[in-house]
Amino acid sequence: MNMLAPPLQKFATNSLEQQWMPFTSNREFKTEPRLVVKSEGAYLWDHKGNRIVDGSSSLFNVAAGHGRKEIADAVFAQMTHNDYSSPFGSGHPGAFALAAKLAGILPDPINHVFFTNSGSESIDTALKIAMAYHRARGESQRVRFVSRERAYHGVNIGGVSLSGMVKNRETFPVTMPNCVMMRHTWDPDTLFTRGQPEAGAELANDLQRFCEMYGGSTIAACFVEPVAGSTGTLVPPVGYLERLREICDQHGILLVFDEVITGFGRLGTPFAADAFGVTPDIMTMAKALTNGAIPMGAVAVKDEIYETVTNAAPENAIEFFHGYTYSGHPAACAAGLATLDIYEREGLFERAAGMSDYFLDALWSLKDLDIVRDLRGYGMMGAVEVHPEPGKPGMRGLELQKRMFFSGCHIKWTGDVGIVAPPFIVEKSDIDLIVDVFRKTLSAM
Ligand SMILES: Cc1ncc(COP(=O)(O)O)c(C=O)c1O
Repeated sequence: MNMLAPPLQKFATNSLEQQWMPFTSNREFKTEPRLVVKSEGAYLWDHKGNRIVDGSSSLFNVAAGHGRKEIADAVFAQMTHNDYSSPFGSGHPGAFALAAKLAGILPDPINHVFFTNSGSESIDTALKIAMAYHRARGESQRVRFVSRERAYHGVNIGGVSLSGMVKNRETFPVTMPNCVMMRHTWDPDTLFTRGQPEAGAELANDLQRFCEMYGGSTIAACFVEPVAGSTGTLVPPVGYLERLREICDQHGILLVFDEVITGFGRLGTPFAADAFGVTPDIMTMAKALTNGAIPMGAVAVKDEIYETVTNAAPENAIEFFHGYTYSGHPAACAAGLATLDIYEREGLFERAAGMSDYFLDALWSLKDLDIVRDLRGYGMMGAVEVHPEPGKPGMRGLELQKRMFFSGCHIKWTGDVGIVAPPFIVEKSDIDLIVDVFRKTLSAM
């Protein structure tokens, strides 16, 4: 197992015991380890030398493929030039450059960016921005937040409060008060819908019902993933996001798009906001912002939100009492700048759009398998949902994640849904391989 990068090889260990692994069956993993020791392009290699196609861009973040030297070089150059400086009350050029670059690809008038270190931190930050904005406008009575069943907004207490996945909530009963959930948009009567379902826009009226029940003027913000990612690529029905926008406008509610997965080309456009033609007030991002190379997240807001919060504070006072030691870390900014440069130079968002039909055709070829319950997809984001094992929801997905890895394909399974989201640099033959491993593994279940 001595397969660390050469400068680290003196630290090699034969023990798997000490690390408590996240979102993993630790006991099972330690009996049958799946260790990745190398990654390049669309592929990973395990400690036994097996090659594994990365069918989920690892965790939907390595959009430009692994081992991008440009990113490593940019981080190295930054680290040897200025490794760290405080982001509170001082700054460094990279953070301003990255914010400006992001503003250039974000929909107008979303032009102000606050840096975090993850998607979960971005959600907490967005919650606080919403509170600060309403307070600055003299509307502190807006204490309620709306989210949705089957949402995933990360694992901090703010994100768990807004999440609608039972396993992520039941152990942690102490969440934020005043969070209410709209219904999710998955409809068992319209299985195998490719792209946006035609029916279901009226589900957005759940928000209107909350306005009627609690008073629209008590609701601060409505959080949605434009395409719900972690519960398996739930694509919004035609007109659904538009209807949410309309209700938010009518009642002064901020619309927040959690674009942690959908951002940076996953749907074939820079953001889901572009794909669906609906502009939120706040956008949360992370993951592909740095191509997964360095942890980083960001929250982008409309100019009016930034101006309202900053102008409400006394002159020369701190306007927003929030920030992380590592907000806009120089290494992360260098990685972000190099990543955005790659996306632009290689036209990777356009490449994702161009590859989408082939990708979705390939996924839909699995429709004939009895075990497949549903297929969903948009852009380079798809889902293969299998029928659950009777009485044991989620167990089949865990087993499939493991079996597929050993058969040469990494897919992130959540419950009984495999979320397929390959890097944008994949060739058609890589997609064929992913689907081939799916077919063989599903057929053998
Ligand atoms: C939509 C969404 N929001 C937030 C998060 C949390 O991001 P992180 O794991 O970086 O905290 C995720 C992670 O998958 C996500 O998919």
